[in-house]
Amino acid sequence: MASHASSSRLPRLSKKTLDHAVSTTLIGRPIYYFPELPSTNMYALNLCSRDPQDGTLVIANYQTHGRGRHHRAWRAPRGKALLFSLLLTPPPELRGPQLLTIVGAISVCEAMKQLYTVPVSIKWPNDVLIEGRKVCGILTELTTQRGMTSAVVVGIGINVNQKVSELPRVVGTPATSLLIEYGKKISRLELLSKILERFEHYYRLFRRDQRDQVINQWRRFSSTLGKQVRVQTHETTFIGTAADIETDGGLVVRKDNGFLVKIFSADVQEIKILP
Ligand code: BTN
Repeated sequence: MASHASSSRLPRLSKKTLDHAVSTTLIGRPIYYFPELPSTNMYALNLCSRDPQDGTLVIANYQTHGRGRHHRAWRAPRGKALLFSLLLTPPPELRGPQLLTIVGAISVCEAMKQLYTVPVSIKWPNDVLIEGRKVCGILTELTTQRGMTSAVVVGIGINVNQKVSELPRVVGTPATSLLIEYGKKISRLELLSKILERFEHYYRLFRRDQRDQVINQWRRFSSTLGKQVRVQTHETTFIGTAADIETDGGLVVRKDNGFLVKIFSADVQEIKILP
């Protein structure tokens, strides 16, 4: 696909431009596009009971009730961000949310690195950072039927063309956008098309149970491994060293007393050690 990054008039998102830009055969098929939705994750979760096709893309130009992790809101001005969800129905034994979140994170990293050569990294489990600033968040949600996971929705929000004044003021990791980091307006179509291409590649590996390749790529992009971290779960808070990520997506943290703890859902903050 032609590069749109340097053009001053970028193509708009529409069903037609999306159909033209997306070149994958599984991920991004079919495409549901909306100029405005409450939340692409909510729409995709509703689709699960009506038309759960593996690879379905739900994308919006604007969300009125975008959802973030820990019941936070995810806000972005109209037309500036990439806001989409993928509905996935892998075999039941592969429906754990952690690995699909990782597939999303490495796909976003690879796409940004290949297109814009920005120094991207992943903060476990799901934040994509550029030099410590958050450019993308991922919210993975599940639907269940009779107590079993029936489908997984991976929701991805990327700050693309927001100026500093248009970014949310957040506590913790500061936010950034590709416009700020790369210095040029970016085509959301070009970026989406590349992310879907990378996602399809890793999703196929994942479905063939070649998880090692997914995890190895995650390790390469990780900004968490080897760092001193503060882990906050629902039950407790502790400090340790991020030692590894396992093939089920869990992060292994070595506590100061030597005990290894595996976590699947927590807030993990790097602790800066002063010289
Ligand atoms: C986070 O808190 O870091 C995760 C944010 C995920 C936001 C995306 S935007 C597209 C999709 N739809 C939603 O409502 N949320 C996700």
